[in-house]
Amino acid sequence: MSMALEVSGLTVRLGGREVLRDVGFALAPGAFCGLIGANGSGKTTLLRTILGFETAAAGRVTRDGAVGYVPQKLELAPDMPVRARDLVALGLDGQRFGFSFPSARRRRVVAEMLEAVDLLGFADQRVGELSGGQLQRVLIAHALVSKPKLLLLDEPLANLDLRAAAEIVALLKRVAGQGVSVLISAHDMNPLLGAMHQLVYLANGRAASGRTEQVVRTEVLSELYGYHIDVIRVHGRILVVAGDGHVHAHDHEHVATIP
Ligand SMILES: Nc1ncnc2c1ncn2[C@@H]1O[C@H](COP(=O)(O)OP(=O)(O)OP(=O)(O)O)[C@@H](O)[C@H]1O
Ligand SMILES: [Mg+2]
Repeated sequence: MSMALEVSGLTVRLGGREVLRDVGFALAPGAFCGLIGANGSGKTTLLRTILGFETAAAGRVTRDGAVGYVPQKLELAPDMPVRARDLVALGLDGQRFGFSFPSARRRRVVAEMLEAVDLLGFADQRVGELSGGQLQRVLIAHALVSKPKLLLLDEPLANLDLRAAAEIVALLKRVAGQGVSVLISAHDMNPLLGAMHQLVYLANGRAASGRTEQVVRTEVLSELYGYHIDVIRVHGRILVVAGDGHVHAHDHEHVATIP
């Protein structure tokens, strides 16, 4: 089976520093992969290098087909006169259809995409006036409207509450189920545990990767993080907890109330 993405021996230097060293992994079509690492570990750099925005000092990236991208930062003025449907439509431009994409078809494709992310009711709302979770869904629609085979998302869950994060993960799981390979960066892997098949963990410029059940184990994660990590199984769900020997009251309540 040909891979949607193959990264091998990738080394990236920025400003004279080696940010990534000898990073390698591959995504099959329909894979859901978490890119996990602390602030400054190189997640954005890796995604930008896959996109070709940064040049690798060594190694290679092989992609099969078009790539959709949801960047980490997007500065939007609340009064910017861009509606949700306009932002999604922009995802069609710069593609091979360009502006020649007929307008009736264009409207239909955009409406279908907004419906797929459950935002049809917000099509005419200005993007600066959407909630964080709604905006992420518009950005995902923007990235998917050109039908890429690979979707890269840079910390799309960062500012979302638990429910909004779970909705985004469920949406991305459906996208992967349709054969799109999803690579999503996060500093906390917990929201992704029910969906991700595999993960790439970045620390000190190096990457460890594998299937979720191979990597998400107390001994493997403790080694990667450099301090004790507990992998807790509760009612068929998994939680990853920095183990300082104490269960915090809040955590305890949270664990106890999971259905
Ligand atoms: N253009 C640049 N020039 C020099 N150094 C850079 C550049 N961009 C990033 N870096 C450095 O590379 C390292 C990795 O940064 P990167 O943004 O990839 O991390 P990250 O994992 O995405 O972090 P965060 O979780 O905070 O978004 C950091 O030490 C950062 O300072
Ligand atoms: Mg980043």
